[in-house]
Amino acid sequence: MGNPQVLIVMGSESDLPVMEEGAKVLADFGVPCELHISSAHRSPQRTAALAAEAAGRGIRVIIAGAGMAAHLAGVVAAETVLPVIGVPIGGGALNGVDALYSTVQMPGGIPVATMAIGKAGARNAGILAAQILALGDPALTGRLKAFREAMAREVEEKDLRLQTTGKIG
Ligand code: RP5
Repeated sequence: MGNPQVLIVMGSESDLPVMEEGAKVLADFGVPCELHISSAHRSPQRTAALAAEAAGRGIRVIIAGAGMAAHLAGVVAAETVLPVIGVPIGGGALNGVDALYSTVQMPGGIPVATMAIGKAGARNAGILAAQILALGDPALTGRLKAFREAMAREVEEKDLRLQTTGKIG
């Protein structure tokens, strides 16, 4: 699929089942990505280098997902002017609200585009990354439009089934 255009970084291996949703959606859109585990707290130098070197390697968008005191997306954003999309991950004692606040509440000057908590957020991060890349890629724009149309059709089909059979699924 060519050189990775999106870097997906997560704070721990335990984040992989969530962050894979972003990788899957990018694969569906034909956008090459790479996944890495690097922690803002446990491996800070490595994380800083990964973010700082990303643009030079041809990466155009970064997705960063972490749980608990989730500083990963902010730390990554501090090291690059590439757009950074943050995914708060649930699972801790506070069910991801901790990660949401840690990711979304960036000080002025260093933006992180923060998604919903968990798998929906990871999926939307992949879609948003594709939308950013589509600004310079009409074929990708076409695939995004087709995806929207398919979603709308699916809703209509489900409603039709509900109306005709009274059953869901
Ligand atoms: C965060 O701490 C990671 O992103 C992960 O969501 C959370 C827990 O990490 P593990 O203890 O499962 O490695 O840094």
